[in-house]
Amino acid sequence: MSGGREWIRMATARTPTNIAVIKYWGKRDENLILPINDSISMTLDPDHLSTTTTVSVSPSFDSDRMWLNGKEISLSGDRFQNCLRELRSRASDFEDNEKGIKIEKKDWEKLHIHIASYNNFPTAAGLASSAAGFACLVFALANLMNVKASQSHLSAIARQGSGSACRSLFGGFVKWIMGKDADGGDSVAVQLANENHWSDLVIIVAVVSAHQKETSSTSGMRETVETSALLQHREKVVVPKRIVEMEKAIEARDFASFAQLTCADSNQFHAVCLDTTPPIFYMNNTSHRIISCIEKWNEAEGAPQVAYTFDAGPNAVMVARDRKTAALLLQRMLYYFPPQSESHLDSYVVGDKSILKEAG
Ligand code: ADP
Ligand code: DP6
Ligand code: CO
Repeated sequence: MSGGREWIRMATARTPTNIAVIKYWGKRDENLILPINDSISMTLDPDHLSTTTTVSVSPSFDSDRMWLNGKEISLSGDRFQNCLRELRSRASDFEDNEKGIKIEKKDWEKLHIHIASYNNFPTAAGLASSAAGFACLVFALANLMNVKASQSHLSAIARQGSGSACRSLFGGFVKWIMGKDADGGDSVAVQLANENHWSDLVIIVAVVSAHQKETSSTSGMRETVETSALLQHREKVVVPKRIVEMEKAIEARDFASFAQLTCADSNQFHAVCLDTTPPIFYMNNTSHRIISCIEKWNEAEGAPQVAYTFDAGPNAVMVARDRKTAALLLQRMLYYFPPQSESHLDSYVVGDKSILKEAG
């Protein structure tokens, strides 16, 4: 290492969140974060739902530290440590002649990093902040440490921070292949179609509540695995079939099948939460009313116009088949669920699918 104790090297990345249309819920390995089924998601628009993370390294730092949304948090958990260890072991030499900085691979054993991360949407509220957060952290650190790894390999590292994070390393429609290997080497994300493939779709997010959920995804799915009999049927019979059908629907831009599968899978995910002992309630009364509203509309039209899906929280992610439908949907939502009113709905966010924007 050279350059004295004065230098600092920084990298910044911005990564969007992703919302699953075929859900991941349940692990077969808690430490490596290996899922019990494949899942498929859409990566969202970074302007509205994304994490921005700046990482820095300097010989003057004497410990690894992290600030999330301006508040210092501990990096001692296994998830952060597993990601940091994997990245440090894959770091390569780096040289900046202008600044007189030279970092060799072995220096990363001694050098410490500082991380500052911001989510531009509610954290731990069921809008996949852990997905955008860990994908962004891994992407930014890989840049800082000059890690030579494919996007697929980075997805396997991000997976060890939060399962859903592996899918945010790609834009468009993404599949997380559950894999078979004991070490998780083949449990990676792959892009099914890029963000231009089905550009008619418009996503509207109804932030029903920005509050932190009572049961984190991690503990919720652990309790479901331990107690739900319905989950076994979902894992073995329902999801494998839906994955095949969803891939076909995406490829053919078949909105009727896409909407039917998306809504059914969201509802079954919440059903296995109810089948957990004690039951987990992620949706609230407003969420249920939003579902009824969309179901009635789709039925009246005779064909699906809008799909809905809810992650581990009360917030609705709605997908309109085209721009005209999106305008009608927003109009209806604002009429029936005006924000900041007795409907207890916070706000709306409108955006397209997107691609991971490289930064650095
Ligand atoms: P969500 O539905 O928002 O993904 P989870 O319960 O899955 O909720 O995960 C929330 C946790 O994810 C937070 O408590 C925090 O540990 C982690 N997290 C959220 N945002 C970030 C971020 N920007 N960087 C790193 N970790 C994050
Ligand atoms: C309902 O990825 O947040 O959003 O792997 O324990 O960090 P951990 O859980 P997380 O779970 C996401 C669950 C979900 C569905 C999905 O994103 O597929
Ligand atoms: Co999460």
